[in-house]
Amino acid sequence: MTEFYFLNGEYVPAAEAVLPVRTHAFLYGTSVFEGIRAYYNQKQDKMYAFRMKEHFERMHNSCKIMFMDPKYSIEEYCNITKDLLIKNNYRTDAYIRPTVFKAAQKVGPSLLDNPDGVLIFTTALGSYFTKDEGLSVCVSSWDRLEDNTIPPRAKISGAYANTALIVTEAKLAGFDDAIVLSNDGHVAEGSAMNFFLVKGDTLITSKETSNILVGVTRNTVIELAQELGLKVVERDIDRTELYVADEAFYCGTGAQVMPVTKIDNRPVGTGSTGKNTEKIQKLYFDLVRGELDIHREWLTEIY
Ligand SMILES: Cc1ncc(COP(=O)(O)O)c(C=O)c1O
Repeated sequence: MTEFYFLNGEYVPAAEAVLPVRTHAFLYGTSVFEGIRAYYNQKQDKMYAFRMKEHFERMHNSCKIMFMDPKYSIEEYCNITKDLLIKNNYRTDAYIRPTVFKAAQKVGPSLLDNPDGVLIFTTALGSYFTKDEGLSVCVSSWDRLEDNTIPPRAKISGAYANTALIVTEAKLAGFDDAIVLSNDGHVAEGSAMNFFLVKGDTLITSKETSNILVGVTRNTVIELAQELGLKVVERDIDRTELYVADEAFYCGTGAQVMPVTKIDNRPVGTGSTGKNTEKIQKLYFDLVRGELDIHREWLTEIY
């Protein structure tokens, strides 16, 4: 079956969605993007997109930071995405990748006099991590970018060169991923996901001002944890707090909710998935797949 992409106002077969080699975004990393998931519920034969609106709100903010014109309203983006998923008619989970990119065919990095293009592609996608059990991660030797370098608050493609170095180093050293520190030595986040540690019944995560991408999943986890009666604290996290946590987990659109059971070769708590992590993970998976009555406002029924 031909897969369709949305490129500059048109739905085109994937093979026809091509850009000139001198496109600014390719030469300078000047595009902003989102990663969104749609979950297929086999029992119900229904497809649900998760928190599209919040992802497109963040993409609008990324555009603002990068002097880009997103071209479409948030509602229009949600409708285009819905149309695209209907055209592609998956019967599996899918991933949606909207991108606004600088499209000038010029040499020179300025964002001015530089038109914007819009691409949305979708693809079938399962888990980001191939493991079912918890992850073994290290602390990266690479620092997270700072707000006044390439701001992590915006999801800018060029910033993912930092992520690429982090992930590659971790994998070469035999780890599944790496936790990244800011220049000041505090924990920012995982390579491409947010991070929580758990002490008793308290969840601790880095502040929004700790050089993180403020994750839609992070916000989801905070709300769900509070509804479960757990306490959530957003504050600086020291490196050595990682080694004495009771539980730890990653969260993000790609990572979903994923237990971290080893950090720098030290077991986290007992070394297996913690009880609060397990509760949150189960609630998250049931919710995104449309199995629950709570937070239906986060789901868009596609078909
Ligand atoms: C650097 C980074 N941090 C955090 C996240 C998590 O954000 P979200 O939950 O909105 O997907 C992502 C993307 O998944 C990311 O790339």
